[in-house]
Amino acid sequence: MKHFDNPVLSQQEANAALDAACAIVKQNLPMFTDKCQNHSCTNGIYEPIDNVEWTTGFWPGEVWLAWEHTHDDELKNAALHMVDSFKERIDKKIEVDHHDMGFLYTPSCVAAYKLTGNEKAKETALKAADHLITRFQEKGQFIQAWGAFGAKENYRFIIDCLLNLPLLYWASEVTGDPKYNDIAHRHITTCLKYSIREDGSTYHTYFMNPETSEPSHGATCQGYKDDSCWARGQAWGVYGTAISYRYTKNPEYIEKFRTVLDYYLTRLPEDLIPYWDMIFIDGNEEPRDSSSAAIVVCGLLEMAKYVEEKEAEEYRHLAAQMLKSMVDHYAVKSGPVGCGLLEHGTYAKKTPYNTCAPAGVDECVSWGDFYYMEALTRFVKDWQLYW
Ligand code: GLY
Repeated sequence: MKHFDNPVLSQQEANAALDAACAIVKQNLPMFTDKCQNHSCTNGIYEPIDNVEWTTGFWPGEVWLAWEHTHDDELKNAALHMVDSFKERIDKKIEVDHHDMGFLYTPSCVAAYKLTGNEKAKETALKAADHLITRFQEKGQFIQAWGAFGAKENYRFIIDCLLNLPLLYWASEVTGDPKYNDIAHRHITTCLKYSIREDGSTYHTYFMNPETSEPSHGATCQGYKDDSCWARGQAWGVYGTAISYRYTKNPEYIEKFRTVLDYYLTRLPEDLIPYWDMIFIDGNEEPRDSSSAAIVVCGLLEMAKYVEEKEAEEYRHLAAQMLKSMVDHYAVKSGPVGCGLLEHGTYAKKTPYNTCAPAGVDECVSWGDFYYMEALTRFVKDWQLYW
């Protein structure tokens, strides 16, 4: 594994950074209690929106993390109030024709249930898990990411889905029904087999053949081009394998974690915050994706719990180096109402070779803020996961 000489974050600095993040969350609470937070900022400010995006679970997750840090019950009451909107969304099937049930329902409703025992939140999250398993394709053995179920042009999975699987592990745990675990297992087996290339980089999305069930080809949506490596996809690979190891103890996931992490580290610029696609390295003008760095720190701190002490210490040290860079050079210390927490995230940058709709380039992004808070929380205490 590649090593770096960068400085590390201290516990005192981490606590101060969390204090600052919590103050911003508290400041923004009135704006995003009855409305949701958009996926990314526009000129540094999040727009309030209806509960229709794949990203709306991250803001309630930030509110729960802020409550854990401050014990301010105004935060808890607001986060519990938000459960109603997530219940309505799954009850009425509003914009749920995709696999992002974990991103939506884990930081909002599973968190509410784990932290307060709220039954409505539990039932709502279970309903979302039931919906997620309806997207499992027997032919090819994967959870279909987007679009009409079974449509040939969307017969694919994406590496991001690794972070939707914890909703399924949780659902099996609370119901005692193994069917959720079983689908998670079959999906991750397919995903890891085909998403990871020889050199340890990853495809963002991978198509299967709906007639033969055979693998077809990798392609990007949000990366620079099909055979480049989208930074956040790599980050989802790092954190996703660590979390799946937590719930399954399958040693293969530790190996895959090391593989994708090793590649990620070889492509980092000096300040340890990746460019939005890992085809870019030091010395160009492309935007960064700070959210990838926050996600990777969470993966490092999770995997450090399961490996031998020498390797664990390397992961903790690396996490402290990455966090130091984020806190010193990327974190918002204070700002106007509606501002975010972690600057220089990139949601989707359009290129001649990819298929995404451009959004949130070099801005705060909602999951970047969430995972930044999660990473700091993991750094200062033995955090009980929402995932
Ligand atoms: N899961 C979509 C993204 O990471 O942008």
